[in-house]
Amino acid sequence: MPTLKEAVKPLIPRELWDKVPRSFDIIGSRSGAVAIIEIPPELEGYKFVIGEAIVKLNKHVKAVIRRIGAREGEFRLYRYEVLVPGPTEVIHKEDNYLIKVDPTKAYFSPRDQGDREDIARQVMPGEVILYPFAGVGPYAITILKRQSSVKLIIAIELNEYAYYYMLDNIKLNRLKGKVLPLLGDASKLMNLFCGVDRIILTLPLGAHRFLMQSLMCIKDGGIIHFYHLGTEENPYGEAEGLVRNYCGDLGYDCQVINRRIVRDYAPYVYKVRLDIRVGKF
Ligand SMILES: C[S@@+](CC[C@H](N)C(=O)[O-])C[C@H]1O[C@@H](n2cnc3c(N)ncnc32)[C@H](O)[C@@H]1O
Repeated sequence: MPTLKEAVKPLIPRELWDKVPRSFDIIGSRSGAVAIIEIPPELEGYKFVIGEAIVKLNKHVKAVIRRIGAREGEFRLYRYEVLVPGPTEVIHKEDNYLIKVDPTKAYFSPRDQGDREDIARQVMPGEVILYPFAGVGPYAITILKRQSSVKLIIAIELNEYAYYYMLDNIKLNRLKGKVLPLLGDASKLMNLFCGVDRIILTLPLGAHRFLMQSLMCIKDGGIIHFYHLGTEENPYGEAEGLVRNYCGDLGYDCQVINRRIVRDYAPYVYKVRLDIRVGKF
């Protein structure tokens, strides 16, 4: 199958060929998908040509939308421009599970799949997990599909659309009774569930505001997965500094047992993850 660049070459001037994006996200499955692409300003006049080419190359893609700017607001959503109109609510198939989502209404990124799998591999039978920025629930689903003996995942989400998709996803993946979905502000709800084995803080642009609360809430010996942003020169420096300071203030013995660059976030900026074992005595 030709690449996007090969497909649009006959339709756009030669000097713009190098500006054609090499990749784009597809969310969905064979029954229907939405493609999400970033198009540079130089290709403004050819954006619809590019959208049509994506649909021709990927028969299951029914809609193409263009990302505008960076993720914004509490719900961490992009603004989009429609290039090929069609349904944007899709059922994404990943490994052996399904994720229903409309990416224009709720956060979801197929690029986080590797990270979800990496966390799921660490989870042990019988764990109780607090998942405060749950979105449509993909970490809970990935964990439970790999480790069905987890006792409970408490999944908190502020965006109503994401919360209702999470409810659908619990049903779709037959996980009723294993996830406690809650609609609300994590800063108010987290403290009701202290003493858990693991906390997953998937909010790279704000998880640090919940780190102190999480450290106090986790059980002795529990694990916190802390997401943050880091520069290319020193990806973990700021995240580790925050952990050191908060743990120092509380008198806890925090060990960073794992560091991971999850993926690119912006030019020269990474989304990173620290896995922290918290010793309290
Ligand atoms: C970066 S997204 C991650 C979502 C999900 N964990 C995933 O990986 O797809 C962060 C999510 O946290 C939610 N959120 C932001 N602030 C929140 C708060 N104070 N309480 C609960 N959820 C919050 C947003 O609406 C968004 O869905």
